[in-house]
Amino acid sequence: LLERLGTRSIVLVGIMGCGKSTVGRRLAQRLNLRFVDADTEIQEAANMTIQEIFAAHGEAYFRSGEERVIARLLQEGPQVLATGGGAFMSGATRDAIAENGISVWLNADFDTVMARVRKRSNRPLLQTPDPEGTMRELMAKRYPVYARADAEVHSRDVPHETVAEEIQAAVE
Ligand code: S3P
Repeated sequence: LLERLGTRSIVLVGIMGCGKSTVGRRLAQRLNLRFVDADTEIQEAANMTIQEIFAAHGEAYFRSGEERVIARLLQEGPQVLATGGGAFMSGATRDAIAENGISVWLNADFDTVMARVRKRSNRPLLQTPDPEGTMRELMAKRYPVYARADAEVHSRDVPHETVAEEIQAAVE
């Protein structure tokens, strides 16, 4: 697999709460690759939390920073790169990933992601009067786009290691 990857990265895409960061970290350990989380890199570059960026500058500003950071990270492969849930909605980002990575959609169902985001409700996009409705709308809009990823793996309530193994098999 490492030979096949060359300098390309394995890029995890999917809705918030689908497990990109936790599973990505496991996958990187398995493959002995560096793990990078795009959201973490964005926060470090801005020296602000994602919530602060949204509050101070708005979503459009966040998205352009997100595109730039992911484009830069894709030059630093091979690695396992976890992206924020909205990243793959950008055509420019999808192109950059196609050029420098293999994309894997971590597909999770509504109940799974709601249970997870409820535990860590720090997502600015869900600070609405009806987070469940907002999540359903986001899923309806995004799932057809996530489905364009090179591979798809289901994120179920099984050990992270199992999902990591499935991702490895899907890109091998
Ligand atoms: C977002 C998902 C978040 C973060 C930001 C926007 C989205 O990342 O990038 O809050 O648009 O779905 P996670 O998917 O890691 O929660």
